[in-house]
Amino acid sequence: MAKTRNVFVCQECGHQAPKWVGRCASCGGWNTLVEEVLEKAGTKAPAWGRREDGLRPQAVRISDIEPLASPRLVCEDPELNRVLGGGIVPGSLILCGGEPGIGKSTLLLQLALQLGSKVLYVSGEESEEQLKMRAERIGIVNEQCFILTETQVEAVLQRLEEHQPALVIVDSIQTLYTDSIESAPGSISQIRDCASALMRYAKTADVPVFLIGHINKDGQLAGPKILEHMVDTVLQFEGDRHHTYRILRTLKNRFGNTSELGIYEMTGSGLRPVDNPSEILISQRDEALSGISIAAAMEGLRPLLIETQALVSSAVYGTPQRTCTGYDLRRLNMLLAVLEKRCGFRLGAQDVFVNIAGGLRVEDPGMDLGIVAAILSSYQNLSLPGDIVYCAEVGLAGEVRAVNRIEQRIAEAEKLGFNQIIVSKYNRLQEPEKRRIKVIQTGRVDEVFSLLFG
Ligand code: TYD
Ligand code: MG
Repeated sequence: MAKTRNVFVCQECGHQAPKWVGRCASCGGWNTLVEEVLEKAGTKAPAWGRREDGLRPQAVRISDIEPLASPRLVCEDPELNRVLGGGIVPGSLILCGGEPGIGKSTLLLQLALQLGSKVLYVSGEESEEQLKMRAERIGIVNEQCFILTETQVEAVLQRLEEHQPALVIVDSIQTLYTDSIESAPGSISQIRDCASALMRYAKTADVPVFLIGHINKDGQLAGPKILEHMVDTVLQFEGDRHHTYRILRTLKNRFGNTSELGIYEMTGSGLRPVDNPSEILISQRDEALSGISIAAAMEGLRPLLIETQALVSSAVYGTPQRTCTGYDLRRLNMLLAVLEKRCGFRLGAQDVFVNIAGGLRVEDPGMDLGIVAAILSSYQNLSLPGDIVYCAEVGLAGEVRAVNRIEQRIAEAEKLGFNQIIVSKYNRLQEPEKRRIKVIQTGRVDEVFSLLFG
């Protein structure tokens, strides 16, 4: 029998200590050390680093290395392809995290059912019957999709050898365990060992492996940070459970852009990719209301027109409230200070609420001008013209600053039938007079105000 020893392992960074201490010496996290039983043997080098003849690898010239022969596996789901940078890279390990009930299992079962080749879905969370029910809701029949309800990683690997699938999905990494260590499934050393066993499989068999990961109460992926370092791609599935829209983001991608984003709608029959997000993010209404504006933001390489709502009302209590949903509160406070100091609006005694439609979270500074317009519209109690899009950053001096990819943003506004777009005069434009949409360029926030309200 393998010799075992007890160690205290930090659940944040994987640091090991012989004794319990309140604060991890490596990452500084408080109360993160948990006792685990480890096998005496040290961790092994990854298998693809070793050659079959047992010799250590030689250094090779980069120009002599053959590029990957096998092309990416392109799935039917255009949003997933986009987020992964153009399809699934063979042999890659992809971690998909998200809150419980957000739809991780649904997304990946749907992928398994849509893919034309053999898929093995390893489930430690749901029974075969439950997965069958889910598959029936999704409504795709696929003879090539196999379900394995097994949680011991050695047994999983054996089944993988037998079935030789083209894609593996593990739901979830926290339920797997290996017999070689004694700690409970979901503990840091179990997660690390199971993930590295699956990584070795992925690299040697050249099969992509998806791992579903839980997130803890702070919204971080549960388990060691090294799990995120180990995998090739980290996807985060997020969204508001009360809204039907879900967003798939890349947090890390060794084979593509990390600023990409996929948008889905949760329907009664699975997740539907949304290919025209701007249309769903702008609500259709007949009457003009105050405090509503449309901003052109970028999410990754994709322009999105987003509706912003603001409500400004006199504060009842001494300290006015400032609340934001889907936008950075500190940035809102900055915009309010700019309006107060540079443009003379008395917002200091007002409650201000800002809401981004559709349960989306945006960080693009190009949203600033749209938010300012919505706030001023609500403050003045005057509705804004419905055919204008706003697209610029607002600086501390009250100047309207240029944003990136302006042409794409203007084109999106034009495509959706808007007549005017307000941008910064510092953005250099290519032949704006040739466009159907009227491009208005301004340099200061107060100019925008007089333009809108006269
Ligand atoms: P699930 O995939 O189980 O989430 P996770 O694996 O991230 O915990 O998500 C299930 C939720 O999605 C559940 O609340 C029901 C809902 N749902 C639908 O609305 N339509 C569907 O077709 C399916 C399969 C699930
Ligand atoms: Mg699940």
